[in-house]
Amino acid sequence: MTDNGFHNEMAKPMTTREFFRLSEFIHTQCGIKMPPGKKIMLEARLQKRLKSVGAATFGEYCEYLFNSPGSQDELVQMINAVATNKTDFFREPGHYPILTDTVLPSFVDPAPGSGQCFTIWSAGCSSGEEPYTLAMVLSEFAVHHPGFRFSIVATDISTKVLEKAKLGIYDEERVAPVPLVIRQKYLMKSKDRSKGQVRITPELRSLIRFERVNLMDEQYRRPELLDVIFCRNVIIYFERVNQEKLLVRLCNSLRSGGHLFLGHSETVHGFDLPLQRVTSTVYRKTA
Ligand SMILES: C[S@@+](CC[C@H](N)C(=O)[O-])C[C@H]1O[C@@H](n2cnc3c(N)ncnc32)[C@H](O)[C@@H]1O
Repeated sequence: MTDNGFHNEMAKPMTTREFFRLSEFIHTQCGIKMPPGKKIMLEARLQKRLKSVGAATFGEYCEYLFNSPGSQDELVQMINAVATNKTDFFREPGHYPILTDTVLPSFVDPAPGSGQCFTIWSAGCSSGEEPYTLAMVLSEFAVHHPGFRFSIVATDISTKVLEKAKLGIYDEERVAPVPLVIRQKYLMKSKDRSKGQVRITPELRSLIRFERVNLMDEQYRRPELLDVIFCRNVIIYFERVNQEKLLVRLCNSLRSGGHLFLGHSETVHGFDLPLQRVTSTVYRKTA
């Protein structure tokens, strides 16, 4: 409280000790590195959480988060507040022709009754722009290649972005990178035009299974082997040791000959992995 009896808008700055408590926890739980240079960012992202649980200081917030029974939900909310979710439709567009021209042709004309279905995982899918882009690209491919079947699973640690992804509602300016013919086919305009929003069609939405998965969970295994994994702009936030552990697990989830797509500034260079380079960010599993 201030002298005049009103609460300040912002909590008083986080102490170094509080920062290390929170950053260590975030790092071990989600892999996201939080060096001291991120203190201001962490303070800003957690302001709303303090208000929400009624904590006046970061010390009180830490007490609540780490020591009170029933704070499980707040751990989820805290991770939601801290994760960086930047994404776009058709982000890093060069990956999509590689998918359709290099990867998919071997899935065309499967032997009748073989049951072969192309499987893809968007790991760290954020608010859905990446898996919906994949659903559009794969649906278009299927139009031109009858018999081609696919399944998409999309996962993220943040329940907030997963809720948005499942809804599939976006501001109109967000879908600008989607080619017009594809937009007309897979996006619906809001009835209330003043909202300036579009929604992914129910058919396209139904093609994706969204699940909460923590990629740092060493026990986690996908039940199926994947043909392709998109894990783009996720490991960039991880320490090198966690990058390697995650990449090993992703390789274990890929079938032999399957492909891994990383973000433009991410690499497997220096790691001992069963991967062969296709381009600087696309790799093929060798064994
Ligand atoms: C920058 S976004 C990238 C989204 C999308 N792949 C793209 O390239 O546009 C990174 C996403 O990874 C998620 N993420 C971060 N750490 C994670 C973890 N340990 N497990 C699962 N997802 C995680 C974040 O919540 C965020 O939505």
